[in-house]
Amino acid sequence: MRGDYAHLDKITGCCKRHEDAFEEGIITIVDDSHGVGAFGKTGRGTEEYTQSKVDILIATLGKAFGVNGGYVVSSAKAVAYLRETSPFYIYSNPITPAEAAAAITALDIAASHEGLSVLDQLRRSSIRLRAGLKDLGFETLPGEHPIVPIFIRDTEKTSALVAHLFAR
Ligand SMILES: Cc1ncc(COP(=O)(O)O)c(C=O)c1O
Repeated sequence: MRGDYAHLDKITGCCKRHEDAFEEGIITIVDDSHGVGAFGKTGRGTEEYTQSKVDILIATLGKAFGVNGGYVVSSAKAVAYLRETSPFYIYSNPITPAEAAAAITALDIAASHEGLSVLDQLRRSSIRLRAGLKDLGFETLPGEHPIVPIFIRDTEKTSALVAHLFAR
């Protein structure tokens, strides 16, 4: 959310080193809602950027994929467990078939030549935005993440900036 990312390679490495100390092992769970579809060489998110694999990956369909709802990616065993025990899965309406179809189409686009070119455009726009903000004297977070924050570090100034932007 802040435009930085977790060093999943270090985190998963640390988990592997200490896994034997825990009877049930260690499970890594990551919410990469701001990464999947936008971050990493082909938009696969923080796992791709850090060259690592977590046990349970959670993300939304509502940001890069422009739809609604979310998903969990994991082993068949973990997914079966969630299907049987998650109250949100059992007692709540799922996304609609139309949303599922839109999500599949978004995934197809993301995996295509067009998707890679959109990703490239996003990368160039993020670089331009970061440089422009810096030139204007704003503090931002260096890096390659497509989330580009502006740190104001003062509540009154932040409110004034919001009002200024809203008015325009
Ligand atoms: C890290 C993170 N995960 C999940 C969500 C929520 O996604 P959704 O809108 O699909 O509930 C957000 C929303 O901003 C988020 O920042």
